[in-house]
Amino acid sequence: MSDAPKYGWRFIDDQGTFELINPQQTSTLYFPLLNQAGMQSCVTPTLNGDAKLDQNTFLLLPVSVEDLHNTRSARNFWVRINDEPWSATGNSPAQLVQELTDTDAAVTLQAGFLWHSVCRQHKATGLEAAVLSFVPTNQDHVELIKITLTNQGERALDLEPISAIPIFGRSADNLRDHRHVTALLHRTYCHPFGVMVKPTMSFDERGHKHNLISYAVLGVDGAGNPPRGFTPLTEDFIGEGGNLCWPQAAVKQDPHVQSAQSAFDGFESIGGLHFQPVQLQPGQSISYILMLTIMSPEDDADALIHRYGSQEKFHVHLAEARRFWVDKLASLRFDHQQARRDGWLQWVSLQPILRQLMGNSFLPYHDYGRGGRGWRDLWQDLLAILLTDEQGVDQLLLSNFAGVRMDGTNATIIGSEPGEFKADRNNIPRVWMDHGAWPLITTKLYLDRTGDLDLLLAKKTYFRDHLSHRCQRSDAHWDGRAGTQVKSTQGVVIEGTVLEHLLVQHLTAFFNVGEHNLIRMEGGDWNDGLDMAAERGESVAFSALYAGNLRILSELCTQLSRAGKVAIPIAVELQRLFDTLHDPLDYEDIAAKQSRLQEYFDAVKGDLSGDQVLIPLEKLQTDLVHKADWLSNHIRRQEWLQDSQGYAWFNGYYDNEGQRVEGEHPHGVRMTLTGQVFPLMARIASREQAAQIVGAVDHYLYNPEFTGYRLNTDFGADVPPLGRAFAFAYGQKENGAIFSHMAVMYAYALYQAGLADQAWQVLDGLYQQSQDFSISRMYPGIPEYFNDRGRGMYPYLTGSAAWYMFTLLTESFGVKGQWGDLCLAPKLSAEQFVSAEAVRVTTTFAGKQLDIVYCNPEHLAYDQYTIGAYSINGKVFQPPAGTRALYFTRAEVLNWPDEVHIRVNLSS
Ligand code: G1P
Repeated sequence: MSDAPKYGWRFIDDQGTFELINPQQTSTLYFPLLNQAGMQSCVTPTLNGDAKLDQNTFLLLPVSVEDLHNTRSARNFWVRINDEPWSATGNSPAQLVQELTDTDAAVTLQAGFLWHSVCRQHKATGLEAAVLSFVPTNQDHVELIKITLTNQGERALDLEPISAIPIFGRSADNLRDHRHVTALLHRTYCHPFGVMVKPTMSFDERGHKHNLISYAVLGVDGAGNPPRGFTPLTEDFIGEGGNLCWPQAAVKQDPHVQSAQSAFDGFESIGGLHFQPVQLQPGQSISYILMLTIMSPEDDADALIHRYGSQEKFHVHLAEARRFWVDKLASLRFDHQQARRDGWLQWVSLQPILRQLMGNSFLPYHDYGRGGRGWRDLWQDLLAILLTDEQGVDQLLLSNFAGVRMDGTNATIIGSEPGEFKADRNNIPRVWMDHGAWPLITTKLYLDRTGDLDLLLAKKTYFRDHLSHRCQRSDAHWDGRAGTQVKSTQGVVIEGTVLEHLLVQHLTAFFNVGEHNLIRMEGGDWNDGLDMAAERGESVAFSALYAGNLRILSELCTQLSRAGKVAIPIAVELQRLFDTLHDPLDYEDIAAKQSRLQEYFDAVKGDLSGDQVLIPLEKLQTDLVHKADWLSNHIRRQEWLQDSQGYAWFNGYYDNEGQRVEGEHPHGVRMTLTGQVFPLMARIASREQAAQIVGAVDHYLYNPEFTGYRLNTDFGADVPPLGRAFAFAYGQKENGAIFSHMAVMYAYALYQAGLADQAWQVLDGLYQQSQDFSISRMYPGIPEYFNDRGRGMYPYLTGSAAWYMFTLLTESFGVKGQWGDLCLAPKLSAEQFVSAEAVRVTTTFAGKQLDIVYCNPEHLAYDQYTIGAYSINGKVFQPPAGTRALYFTRAEVLNWPDEVHIRVNLSS
């Protein structure tokens, strides 16, 4: 194994472009290429990886991470150099060996937003092949590849180029379900510019359907000439007994080729395009452009050739795509005057956009995803989207609220169109008890940034399917053809305000308690692996989040009152959950809470009355505060624990036997990070408790080797009946890995508690580990988690990216909205100034471009500095002594010019 240099990749400009030498000497590297029209590809250094539109429309063979080293079905481009076969993508037996062991800089990868280029040399002759890939940012479903061959040697070279790109052309389900039979559906045709496959039918989970989609590999040389012929069937291409690593059509001299218009039925196919032989003089280059495309009936191969079929056209589209992605990321940029950290942050800021487009599917580690986006991920990714692009977010939020059921649960899978909801993919009636909490967090950010309280009063429908009573009951008579909206007994579609939707989510949670008077686990919480405690499990962690949220809801009521609203309409059925208004419950009485909730479930299980009552906001506010106070105090009183070593923290869970999960145990101390994050975030932990939590987390969960915080301690063999997570090996994924999402939320929670240095240590640790290529083995970005060997797993698609940007901007740099006003409350750590006296963030607020510089020449720590003189576009202001935050009303901000430079001195 080679010794990867510690820093592996390096940035070669300030636009996120990075270079990695010998990338093929690291396993599992892959890079996403996609557009907003749904074309989704991924490529590895040897151009493995797949390309698809969705689960049922794969152009290339679907790959899981293990396939990246296993399958030979990569995109290949052979060049016969003076009659000797050589692969421009490194996929030949000799090259696989040589490029694995070679310590010279034989292969160079460069990649940027969002393009990927690998360059390798044929050492014996000096032929260089540069393979550049991207997906144009228009409506086309096409991946473009340009192969440039340059003779860097001293002799003329006779070249014969041949592409070899297997066309899978069907649903991913057919990989292990009728792989052969679905090949019989294939109709393969040699278009003058390539190989096209149009299956007659599709066989997949949707049934047997007439197929309209065509899959194709088209190609031209740089001057726009078509290939001279084709080998379109895989079995002919590889030859009898052959394989894609040494295919007869490429290794044999002068293979028999098919001409345009030839057609074949019922075989596995391949984009085997033979280009004209050419002699390349020293110093000369020649290029080829390949178009890997998925076409609907209205698409036309000739139009694609016309659009992309020359060097110039390829580069026009490449420039456009690069500009598109760079512009998209330009609205939020951090500058610590540390090129590596700042470049890395640009890649993190791309990740929420990737997940918005791909969900948790379609990259090699995410082989469980079948498309669509998960409810909690959808809302949390919006945290980052909101910071960069407010346009239309109100409508997006609004349409997402239509996924809420009247029982407080929600549709789980969200389609790619706003407001498109699907049942869970396996139709399993599973409820994640955390789901109700995330929409409020995103909505609050929206309200803070815009002051648009009207959103709370906007009306939206509710989701309905056969499930009710938080999926405990199923209505066998429910007729899905009537639509998925809740209606009144008179058949009128019910609409409620956004505030009402939020109240439904939180009140149902508040009353849904288990035997410790905490909110029941149901099918799981944030941790998808805690799925085995539906009967008696309780999540203290998320009870804390709901408690904090109830307080935020009460603040929303206060704000609406301030804005002149007196009362809001509420569905009459929901009234009973505002118990303090008419029939107060003793919150200590578990049975009373449960029965009140059942009453409510019964009332909303089918059609609603359609009646509403006006509830005074003041009363609503009091009710919510009462609930928030009760739950917070309950957690603080009941769940704080201490071990015999003197460490103290919050218990986060009760298992399915009703046992407290955390604390001392015969197998060792049991502690979760999640259990600490939410009491901190919800400010349930007192100052002293926060300090104690930090001590316990540092002691039990910090892994200095990989500078990160684990999700939990090792629970040992006798694991609690809580979920499958504990069946994972310890240190992996949801069982004790350094799980970025929860770690970043821990940082956020620490900032809330005013512990800025500790918070920075968490954020910085994740960065340090991510960028330490020798261990993390990943391209720039944050992974879902680091495994027990420190490797970055499940890159690109992770909620941690959104939380990282959100936390860095609103807490560390302290640029935040407050009901539409702007607040600058930096919680910067002295360590953020190691390489400079100033740090900078470029961001937007209220339509203004803000360039904010914080100067800290004395390298003061957060608790040592206050805000000294500051300037706005050169005009200097002196705040009163002791100022720790600057406030600007929205009206003031709107009066600023479009571009505003703010310079803030941090002084003692
Ligand atoms: C993933 C899921 C997320 C879930 C988490 C823990 O994390 O996407 O919904 O809460 O696992 O099970 P992520 O991909 O956001 O890092």
